[in-house]
Amino acid sequence: MQTEASFTDFSKNCVSRVEQILETQLPPPDIEPSRLHRAMRYATFNGGKRIRPILVYASGLACKGQIQQMDLAACAVELIHTYSLVHDDLPAMDDDDLRRGKPTCHRAYDEATAILVGDALQSLAFRLLSRKEEAIPATTRLQMIELLATASGSRGMAGGQAMDIDAVNRELALPELEAMHIHKTGALIRASVQMGALAAGSDEKQQRHLGHYAKAIGLAFQVQDDILDIISDTDTLGKTQGKDAAANKPTYPGLLGLDGARQKARELLDEALDALTDFGSEADQLRHLAHYVVQRSH
Ligand code: IPE
Ligand code: IPE
Ligand code: MG
Ligand code: MG
Ligand code: MG
Repeated sequence: MQTEASFTDFSKNCVSRVEQILETQLPPPDIEPSRLHRAMRYATFNGGKRIRPILVYASGLACKGQIQQMDLAACAVELIHTYSLVHDDLPAMDDDDLRRGKPTCHRAYDEATAILVGDALQSLAFRLLSRKEEAIPATTRLQMIELLATASGSRGMAGGQAMDIDAVNRELALPELEAMHIHKTGALIRASVQMGALAAGSDEKQQRHLGHYAKAIGLAFQVQDDILDIISDTDTLGKTQGKDAAANKPTYPGLLGLDGARQKARELLDEALDALTDFGSEADQLRHLAHYVVQRSH
């Protein structure tokens, strides 16, 4: 496998690439309605890890695509993710004050603005994918739109968020908890991998293997998020530590204990790596990402 250092370089390049493009695609802060435009930028440019765009690029490269083919998908999925965080933090949802180390969008602005920021970021994501773009055929962009719409909607992220709200103060059985995690977090992570593969012109077999990889790391990502909510601290996380327990949310550590949750994350890592057996060194960034997802500290 390529070295850790080359993965770090790769990730940094992906982050700066997607941020540069987002910078040009988000409406300038000084055009009207400028408060909304400023708030959209506030929510987007604040030190997110950009895991989903990195996954889009890594998946496209695993299918031997050109980096510029993946740009639109990388931006679109980060915009949807950012919108989901802005809404997740609202008082009617998790009621959080801190996100990525700064006051949440509704704290820095106000609730109505934060709701509209989410709406507008979501629309912008689909606008980007539907725009004419020479590097990707229109039929492929249509498939990407369908993928992202499904992954964001009631059968994906939004549905998972509904399950999450429904689960407060209830004890879930493991299959219910898994379904909730797969929807609220797994769906967008999976869509990132699938869109990268599509943009790169992958074949069906590659898509099937990458689908398995993505399902495993999508779930692992939320298992680790739940673990970090317990073992990390607010400064490192950039969001309030201990919120899950305080809000009485069902989590993997809650159900399996910390060791059980860690074990689950390791099993999912193995599953993800197994799914990549047919790929050569071109999938090394995806392998590094799988390790990162379960070893990350924030
Ligand atoms: C946090 O996502 C919310 C979950 C889906 C678990 P990230 O951990 O990717 O958040 P940022 O984008 O890096 O802030
Ligand atoms: C968030 O899950 C999932 C989505 C935003 C869709 P969490 O509520 O656990 O995320 P954090 O911990 O606030 O980042
Ligand atoms: Mg939540
Ligand atoms: Mg939350
Ligand atoms: Mg969390």
